[in-house]
Amino acid sequence: MAKVREVMDKFGNKHTYNEGMEGVLATTSEICHINGKEGKLIYRGIPIEELAEKSTFEETSYFLLYGELPTRKELDDFDARLKANRALPQEVLSIMKQMPSQSNTMQFLRTVVSLLGLYETKSDEHTVIETSHEAEKLIAVFPTIVAAIQRLREGKEPIAPDNSLGHAANLIYMVNGEKPDEFAARVLDICLILHAEHGFNASTFTSRVVISTLTDVHSAITAAIGSLRGPLHGGANEGVMHLLNEIGSLDKVEEIIKIKLETKAKIMGFGHRVYKVLDPRARILSQYSERLAQITGNETYYAMSKKIEDIMKREVGDRGIYPNVDFFSASVYHYLGFKLESYTPIFAVSRISGWAAHVMEQLRENRLFRPSSVYLGDIDRKYISISER
Ligand code: CMC
Repeated sequence: MAKVREVMDKFGNKHTYNEGMEGVLATTSEICHINGKEGKLIYRGIPIEELAEKSTFEETSYFLLYGELPTRKELDDFDARLKANRALPQEVLSIMKQMPSQSNTMQFLRTVVSLLGLYETKSDEHTVIETSHEAEKLIAVFPTIVAAIQRLREGKEPIAPDNSLGHAANLIYMVNGEKPDEFAARVLDICLILHAEHGFNASTFTSRVVISTLTDVHSAITAAIGSLRGPLHGGANEGVMHLLNEIGSLDKVEEIIKIKLETKAKIMGFGHRVYKVLDPRARILSQYSERLAQITGNETYYAMSKKIEDIMKREVGDRGIYPNVDFFSASVYHYLGFKLESYTPIFAVSRISGWAAHVMEQLRENRLFRPSSVYLGDIDRKYISISER
């Protein structure tokens, strides 16, 4: 239920508004639909479960960008274009080496994407075709940036992309220098499919607002990364890992979660503006977290996550607070060997496809976003000169 507020302004007019724009329709879109009551998600008509089972991140990205599932040739060509654009320009890599390597990884990513804009933006005419080329390049290069940031953080030399590997496998390779086994690569591929798109969430809306001024794509994506970073949005997956580490063992789960709920602390990875039942992406990720726990022989993180889920269902399930996509992705990334500070950047490696699809859709029938607010400030104030204040 949207939190609708009623206010009277100082001109004597009554207004209502929805806090956080909940339920407000901003425009139309053909990219994604979320049924929050039944926990269903479709990308351009296809259920997320089917895409997670049968598609790849590359194919899903093409589908999101261009609206049709690619033919074999279209997919091969798209894949070749992605591979051709994986490497970072040497100038950008050199500047990255000068940046403070211990800074927040999302701030680092945001800065590098902004920097790339200086090298990549060729003109100020942003047609949909031109934008699609820039979008493909960004999808291609995001894993290289994220892996390079992680390696620089660890005082290691970045690793060049390996074009014999798919998008997901290559990301794992560029982070740790070892080619992953097929299952690990496929699990990350599925994570990337699941995180690729989600309607008018904060970062996607940000990207559409920014591009609606007809600025460049890099500005829109840079702003979106800044938005995704926040703990209420993509930053929640890192918050989940902090929570799991704080709890530390299965026998502490009940006590710590109860204290947090009593003190009205938010449990990261739970709750959603749209879903009031289990997020369908969380259901899929939970299964992979369980399988990875068995394979790695390290059951603790999955077991703690499952117990938190059970307690939350019992305590706040009737208020529609269930695991969201960030909850089980934390333990999955942990099992895949990623460091905590890479979790939100990996979300961005995936969501760049959704942002790009929305930026292109926005440009097709653009109208500048320019909403209003209710003015509640003073209306009859005198200017007092500085010497009299
Ligand atoms: N733990 C405990 N209580 C919660 C939680 C939670 N995770 N989420 C919501 N609530 C409570 C909240 O305290 C509030 O209670 P009251 O009405 O008594 O004040 C009520 O539920 C409504 O919460 P809200 O914050 O007004 O709802 P919202 O629609 O603005 O919030 C949300 C959505 C995602 C910001 C919120 O659920 C939250 O902060 N969750 C934790 C952060 C998180 O996991 N974010 C990831 C979101 S999904 C993926 C993504 O977008 O990146």
